[in-house]
Amino acid sequence: MKIAIGSDHTGVDLKALIIKTFDDVDFMDFGPEAKESVDYPDYIEKVARAVQKGECERGIAICGTGIGASITANKVRGIRASLCFNGFMAEMTRKHNDSNVLVLGARVTGEEVALYIVEKWLYTGYEGGRHQRRLDKISSIENREIGGD
Ligand code: RB5
Repeated sequence: MKIAIGSDHTGVDLKALIIKTFDDVDFMDFGPEAKESVDYPDYIEKVARAVQKGECERGIAICGTGIGASITANKVRGIRASLCFNGFMAEMTRKHNDSNVLVLGARVTGEEVALYIVEKWLYTGYEGGRHQRRLDKISSIENREIGGD
């Protein structure tokens, strides 16, 4: 499974831990490497674009609270980015929302919980059925927006 991953400076350690822990996953790391302050949109857009273009199946985006990364990733057409704080949210967002970007807040979620969230999100499938109608409605909202891709 090919997964795009990126963060800002607050998520560098958690990003490295995720890459090390899930060694069965082929991660495409969009950085950053160092902990100097950076602007999260620069990195999170790359994760979202890799998913949008189909270069990666899904993506993981990390910032301090997870909020800036969520806002950024969800600006990209076709991205369903989900900020998760526990395993239940991760499981449900895969089953019901076919989440294609997982968002984590490195300053608000401890490492153990974050790894559990990633595990649930990586290995839970989309249920389809009635949920597809709802996702189609989200796509139709996107399609009513003017311009941009
Ligand atoms: C960086 O200081 C912080 O603003 C960022 O990581 C994120 O929490 C934004 O939503």
